[in-house]
Amino acid sequence: MSAEATSVPWLDAWTPEEGAERVRALFEARFGDGPPDGTWSAPGRVNLIGEHTDYNGGLCLPIALPHRTYVALRRRDDDRVRLVSAQERTGQRELELADVAPGTVDGWAGYVVGVAWAMREAGLAVGGFDVAVDSCVPYGAGLSSSAALEASVAVALDAVFGLGLAGATDDAGRSRLAAMCVRAENEIAGAPTGGMDQAASLRARAGHALLLDCLDGSLRHVPFDLSAHGLALLVVDTRAEHQLADGQYAARRASCEAAAARLGVATLREITVDPRGMEWALDKLDDEVQVRRVRHVVTEIDRVTWFVALLESGAVDAVGPLMNASHASLRDDYEVSCLELDLVVSAAMSAGALGARMTGGGFGGSAIALVRADSVDEVARAVHAAFTSAGLRSPAFLVATAQTPAA
Ligand code: GLA
Repeated sequence: MSAEATSVPWLDAWTPEEGAERVRALFEARFGDGPPDGTWSAPGRVNLIGEHTDYNGGLCLPIALPHRTYVALRRRDDDRVRLVSAQERTGQRELELADVAPGTVDGWAGYVVGVAWAMREAGLAVGGFDVAVDSCVPYGAGLSSSAALEASVAVALDAVFGLGLAGATDDAGRSRLAAMCVRAENEIAGAPTGGMDQAASLRARAGHALLLDCLDGSLRHVPFDLSAHGLALLVVDTRAEHQLADGQYAARRASCEAAAARLGVATLREITVDPRGMEWALDKLDDEVQVRRVRHVVTEIDRVTWFVALLESGAVDAVGPLMNASHASLRDDYEVSCLELDLVVSAAMSAGALGARMTGGGFGGSAIALVRADSVDEVARAVHAAFTSAGLRSPAFLVATAQTPAA
């Protein structure tokens, strides 16, 4: 089969109206006792560069996707939570907020009630609610479907309980909401992730990439309009699922923390890329694995700085080599890539992409390729054909532009 004859599956985003309508209809059909107080939504993300740096106090550079999770929510007068999801056919779940604590809630409900739990832990007056969820963020694709769920619930609860944190220009309030979403994910859902995904979903800006400094949570919005440069960002969901992902992520984080302790620094951010920083650090470490993990983190943070400098100087088409270097470092030093992610990168580069890399935590999930706007289809077909030739399940594709945060 020629590459041209291949039909490529595209993952389309819903319009905001369509998403709101779907989730409102789901709410009314499944609860059957009237309308919600309103509908809210939050985006998934792709990270342009700066991978596995967030929990090391480093820099990362995500954008908010057009693909969003939608919630319809209604405040209750008691402490009960009723949840339904279009993605879960198992019916309605019900629980008492007072019973929510680490280790008590399993599955997707943890991301929802975890946010309410974290708000109450922060001393905010949040009670029970009814909520319906629907989403066009591809699930399990490394595009932050869980952060999109947390963030959509966070802005909905902010509105119905009058917390006043999610105002359009109130980044301090949104930063607090993001921190509560991280607690929900770490402590209730039990995933030891950093804070990049929640920051992207709540604090990103349309038309911009979010330069997030995870040392102090500060940010800068960096203009990111690829179409103005005749370019596009192709996202490839490999649809590869790797069972070991959770334990492997925690192991990477533990390895970085152990290396930081050995080096006597609070986070690996303190190790600079110059010889007095990195060479000193690598010499001091006697564990070969820690040497490679630290080398990735330190060089990756440096690549974010260069990437942003190129974006800000208008040399957008020059960032490709940094993406490729990031991928090589994640593959060889951090060891979080996999056959499918490597295949996206090599096939996209052979088809003329300017740069490509895995994005997100790795072990499956998605990769991104920077391509000329008029070659999006050609590169997608080439990647698809490479998967077919390798006997792999067909990947799915979307084109990412930088969109609005949770609202
Ligand atoms: C996952 C985590 C993030 C971040 C990335 C890797 O997406 O949720 O916090 O650590 O992996 O950059």
